[in-house]
Amino acid sequence: MQLPTVSLIVASTRTRRFADLPLAWLRERLGARADLSLDVLDLREHPLPFFDQPKPPAWNRRAYANEAEATVGRSLDAADGFIVLTNEYNHGYSAALKNLLDTFFVEFQHKPIGFVGYGNVGGSRAIEQLRLVAAELDMVSVRTSVHILGHQMRQLAEHPDTRETVWEGLEPRLELMTDDLLWWANALAPAREEDDALAS
Ligand SMILES: Cc1cc2nc3c(=O)[nH]c(=O)nc-3n(C[C@H](O)[C@H](O)[C@H](O)COP(=O)(O)O)c2cc1C
Repeated sequence: MQLPTVSLIVASTRTRRFADLPLAWLRERLGARADLSLDVLDLREHPLPFFDQPKPPAWNRRAYANEAEATVGRSLDAADGFIVLTNEYNHGYSAALKNLLDTFFVEFQHKPIGFVGYGNVGGSRAIEQLRLVAAELDMVSVRTSVHILGHQMRQLAEHPDTRETVWEGLEPRLELMTDDLLWWANALAPAREEDDALAS
């Protein structure tokens, strides 16, 4: 059986961003798993124009307005599940991430999504908002999320020699979240294939 593809979406687009530290950790840990194939969708590397379609993507499936949308759309389509690495701005998630979520629909539909957040309270407020959006996109948001708290962010940034201790502490939740995400990814992939076969 083909390994499920997990797309790791990086939400922060800042030139100098904290996201790069957890991104390196996630690349390493998720990349080492034998039960998934990892793909990284970094929104800084794939800037999308602000959504400007005449109809909602849920009605007008895969009607990409430009090459940037088509490239990202194909990458999302190939995923069986998503892990979003999210920052928290003003108790919400980033505008770039909302633009991504609004620009596509069927590419997300009937797939699981999990969250790794960072901020004073581990990006919790952004993540809880993202769960509501995921429900509207007809996705399953997995119960466990990973939260990198403010004091851990400081430790990671200011004391590089102790980074491994922080990552080790977060590892069990990452494992739990990923295991759950893969359970859903493996369960839903055949059902999506059946839908595609009926539609074609
Ligand atoms: C505009 C702005 C708003 C912010 N609001 C929050 C917030 O509501 N909660 C929080 O925990 N951190 C907040 N922060 C601090 C971020 O957690 C911190 O800057 C983090 O590094 C942002 O992620 P990034 O560097 O990967 O973009 C905010 C930062 C910015 C720039």
